[in-house]
Amino acid sequence: MRLVVLVSGSGTNLQAMLDALHAGEEPVEIVAVGADKPCQGLERAESAGIATFVVPPGEHVDRADWNRALQRAVASHHPDRVVFAGFMRIVDAEFVAAFPGLIVNTHPSLLPSFPGAHAVRDALAYGVKITGATVHEVVADVDAGPVLAQVAVPVAEQDTEGELHERIKAAERELLVSTLARLAREHDGAQAPGARP
Ligand code: GRF
Repeated sequence: MRLVVLVSGSGTNLQAMLDALHAGEEPVEIVAVGADKPCQGLERAESAGIATFVVPPGEHVDRADWNRALQRAVASHHPDRVVFAGFMRIVDAEFVAAFPGLIVNTHPSLLPSFPGAHAVRDALAYGVKITGATVHEVVADVDAGPVLAQVAVPVAEQDTEGELHERIKAAERELLVSTLARLAREHDGAQAPGARP
């Protein structure tokens, strides 16, 4: 299963995928890593010898133009799946339609609770005692779409946003890796000679 991964930040989810999937025994190849800006995630990809690309919104006349450029960059690597691993930009419906049912996102809350860019802060502010991470299929609406897997993470009494997010991220990385491994096996099975359509 060919993956293109999009990142915006530290790239620890990407690193977990590189370690457990790309270099592992699962039928997964990370063919390219893209970003909206230079970031540590891209450096991790470069260190692993994987092709990278950057599509900065500031270099495009408007959002639609940026979306199309990102779509072209992703499509040029012919992915079977696209993974948003800490990609902090919202793509439009046209982008989603270009990879129908094939984009996977990871989010640091138990969706549909706490969508958006401040999921951990919002969960803490609400006072929930259990939060977690969700891996889901991307649809045109933000942080919506069929849930592929979830993991619960208890909130500790004195948790700061940073501490809670780190614990969520540890669980999130395992969840993302195991979900992608499952999808890869399903994809491989569907491609096998004699497999039912
Ligand atoms: C993850 O918790 C992701 O769900 C959120 O930002 C974090 C990215 O972490 N949107 P990293 O860049 O993979 O380290």
